[in-house]
Formats: sequence, C-alpha cells, structure tokens
Amino acid sequence: MICNRNIFMATVVICLSTVATKAFGTECPIIPQPEESRIVNGEVFRLSSQCGILYDDCYEDQALLLQKELMRFCNMAVSVAPLRNGNTCKGRRSVYLKSDKTKNPESYRLEMDSQSVYISSSEAAGIINGIMSFLQLAMLEEERSGAIDLKCWKIKDAPQYAWRGFMLDEARHFFGKEKVKQILSWMSVYKLNRFHWHLTDSQGWRIEIKAYPNLAYIGGIGYYSSPYAPAQYYTQEDIKEIVSYAKERNIEVIPEIDMPGHASAAVRAYPEYSGGGSPDYPNYTFNPGRDTVYSFLTAILKEVDALFPSQIIHLGGDEVHYGNEDWNSDRDIQALMDKEQLGSLPDVERYFFKRIADSLFRINNRIAAWDEVASSDLPPEKTIIYFWRQNRQEQLQKAFDKGYSVVLSPRLPMYLDYPQDTVQVYGVDWRRFPLNTYRKIYEFDPMGFDVKYPKDAKILGVQANLWTERVVDGNRLDYMLFPRIAALSEAAWTKPDSRDLNLFEGRLKEHFGIYEKNKIYFLDVFNPQNTPEPRS
Ligand code: ACM
Repeated sequence: MICNRNIFMATVVICLSTVATKAFGTECPIIPQPEESRIVNGEVFRLSSQCGILYDDCYEDQALLLQKELMRFCNMAVSVAPLRNGNTCKGRRSVYLKSDKTKNPESYRLEMDSQSVYISSSEAAGIINGIMSFLQLAMLEEERSGAIDLKCWKIKDAPQYAWRGFMLDEARHFFGKEKVKQILSWMSVYKLNRFHWHLTDSQGWRIEIKAYPNLAYIGGIGYYSSPYAPAQYYTQEDIKEIVSYAKERNIEVIPEIDMPGHASAAVRAYPEYSGGGSPDYPNYTFNPGRDTVYSFLTAILKEVDALFPSQIIHLGGDEVHYGNEDWNSDRDIQALMDKEQLGSLPDVERYFFKRIADSLFRINNRIAAWDEVASSDLPPEKTIIYFWRQNRQEQLQKAFDKGYSVVLSPRLPMYLDYPQDTVQVYGVDWRRFPLNTYRKIYEFDPMGFDVKYPKDAKILGVQANLWTERVVDGNRLDYMLFPRIAALSEAAWTKPDSRDLNLFEGRLKEHFGIYEKNKIYFLDVFNPQNTPEPRS
C-alpha cells in the first residue's frame, strides 16, 4: 500500500515537473534533445556584433564555421581570433572553442554564462556539434536592436549512433549544388553526419568521369519527368566543392554508383557494357559476363575514390531482378555461368558483386550496398549493408549473422518519398501505401524487427532516404524533408528513454519559425492547410 502511494506521489511529481518544464520554458529547445541539459536561471548571454569567437589553435576551421553560420542564420557578424598569447578579448562577451578530454569524438560540452560561452570537445566533430547547439539557441530567439538575448544553458551531450544519415536521389531529378549545400547545412544544424548521394540510376548519370566523358554528356541527359532534357551532372570540381562543404560541417559524403541494375543511363552512353534488360526495363543492367565491364567499372570507381575521402563507396545492388531477363539468353553471361558453374541468375549477381568488391578492396575502400547484397559472401569487416525491405527481414538476419555492419533505413518509416499526411494528393498514394509520418520516424525502434539480434550486432545507425521520382523541384524537396528531418535527427541522436514525442512536438513548433525565416517550404504538420502541397 505504502509502495503504491509512493508510486502515485512520484507520478504526480514527475507530471508536475513536466508541466513546470513546459510552463517555465526550462526544456532545452534544441533538436536533437541533448543527453543532459540544465538552464542557468536568470542568466542571459547577449549575442551581438561586439562579441568575439576565441579558439584553441586546433579549432580555427570550426571558429570560421561558427562565424559564417552566425552571419548566415542570425545576420550577426562577430570576429574570430586565436586564444594565444593571453588574447582574451578583455571586457567583450566571447564564445570559446576549447580542446578538452571527451571519450566520444562527437561528444561536447556547452557551458554559458552572461559573459562567456564555452564549447569544448576532444575533436573537431564534437566542437561542430556544440556549435550547432549554440547556433540553434541563437536561431530560435528574435534579434532586437542588433542583439540576440540567449538564455544560458549547461549541456553535456553525445550521440546514440555514430551513423546518422540522409540519402538524396539526384538521378531521378537533379537539384544542383546550391540546393545540396542548403541540405547539408540543415543536416549539420540537426547533427546528421552521413550524406549518401545517389548519383546514378536509369534516369540519369550525374557525376563527371574523365575516363568516360559520355557518362555525363549522354548519361546525364534527361530526368524522370523529362527524358530528353539537356544533360545535368556534377563536374569533378563541383563534387570536390560539395565534399569539402560537407566536411567542414562534420558530414561524410558516401557516393552511390548503382550496379549491376539501374544502369540504363550508363549503358545509353556506352552500349558495349549493356547486359540487356526486360520488356519493362530495357537495357537496365551492366553485363556481368564481360571482362571489359569490370575494367570499365573499376576505372570509374578509381575516379570516384579519388573524389570522395570517405573510403566507402555504395554499389547499390538493389532490384536487379526487375530487368535481368536478357541474362538468360546473353551469350557472354551463359558462357560465364558454364565456366563458373553458376546455377541461377542470383548466383550471377553474387559473382558480379564479389568480383567488383575486389576492385574496391584493392583501392582500400569498404563496400556499402542495399540488403540484396546480404546474400553475397563478402568479408564482414569491409561490408556495410543498408536494410531497406521490412517485408524481407531475413536479409537483416543474414546481415547480422554474417557479421556485416548495418545501416537501418527501412522503407517504413524511413522512405521520405512516402507521404506524411492524408492532405497529400501527389506522389506515392497514401490510400495504397502507409504514411511515413514524423511521429513514426521519431518513434522508430531499431530493435523492433522480427530477427534474432546477436549480442554483437553491428548497427552503425539509422538513415532516411529521399527517392525523387515525384520530387520535381526545391519546394517539393523541402516539403518532403521538413520537418521529418528533425524527427530523424532526434531518433538517431537521442537514446529512446530520453525521447518524448509530446515535448518534441513542442520544440518542433518553435523550429517552424526558423524554417519560415529561412524560406524553407516545410509541411506544417499541425496545420497542414497552412502549407499547400507543391505539385510533383
Ligand atoms: C531501393 O529502394 N531500391 C533501395
């Protein structure tokens, strides 16, 4: 009885403290919710152009990043200087970027009082995370007479997962450098740190390859809704610029060169490498029966490796069966099957993957691929499987059993081409497919699949994917991404027992204000009629 009463009292206290938290605004307003945060009552840090950023020598790049982002998001120009020779910006309020001992390279501390803001970490990655927390605090307040008054916080923070990813398909529609940079900026604001760039597919090849220029010139022609539109692709200089923009923001870019299916754009440019297709998907594959195909793809991968420092290249491997009917009659493929004693077309796929993976390993890259490739025999320490089909959970089981590293990006709820609300009339039809709401993303449970999780399951983290067949322009891209990107951020960063959907929704409403200021065409999930759906 006494026990029950104590539980009752404890519940009342917890409820009251939640109410108090909301009523008095003592819940930290940033997304993702930090591991620990505490308001410093009554203290206000006045951010103005009189302030300076002072940095330990190792954090010069991050000081410049904070300076740039304060200018961009808060219209606030502050100076930077190294914390050397007793340089302390005497009498001026300052933001200090300090080297500190933290275990996790991405963890950080943020400590504020009315005169100083200290952001500390052992690594640049942690400093950038701390900078983004500070930046959000500033973005969420109004500027008055050239100054922004920030409530002071003490935050100690670290991520739940090392891999917090977003994938953009630029093969179906091409959005260009400025839009990609904008997405990267918002990814960093939300502490997402892996950008998976789907650069090739049947509708377009979007990356310049010097050894095979027609991939871009011819393969780049057209997109999903306009197959004869002039070629659109990224030059190697563009790619370098985007990769370094991402790196500045603690984002690793993982390029995807999809094979052996989804290859129509490439074989339109170089038909000699085609493995044919099927009536619905003509010329859909590379030809696994020809040695020249492996030399062609290896030359491409070498250039890709030289452009992306990630040392992980995603080779696709999905949906080959859609268009490999011609493999049954192709002379070279039939000869390969005889020679290698391959009994079926899936065996041919596995042979192809083993051979092309060897090319990647020779250039010291790891291979990433969709979950079809969990059926191959690849070295576990060099293989990352992206689980996407929850109707095929045996593929996740295989990936775990073989010791592969796994990124969880299941179609439900992590595919952002699926609608988020019944107000949507364009794109994937919500009457036939489930809604992928921000709530479902927020509540995503990585341990909720119907598989036996090994004790040492290598779950790297989570990722959302935006396929763009029905995403024709920047406004629609925003509409599909915002605010689900915020839910993804917290699902990936914050441990389940620290997440609370109601509190998240309260913070999310405040973030709509910063979307508006930055002209992001988001879906107002609380009042969908306020933000009409852009056409697809
Ligand atoms: C996929 O959605 N085809 C990976």
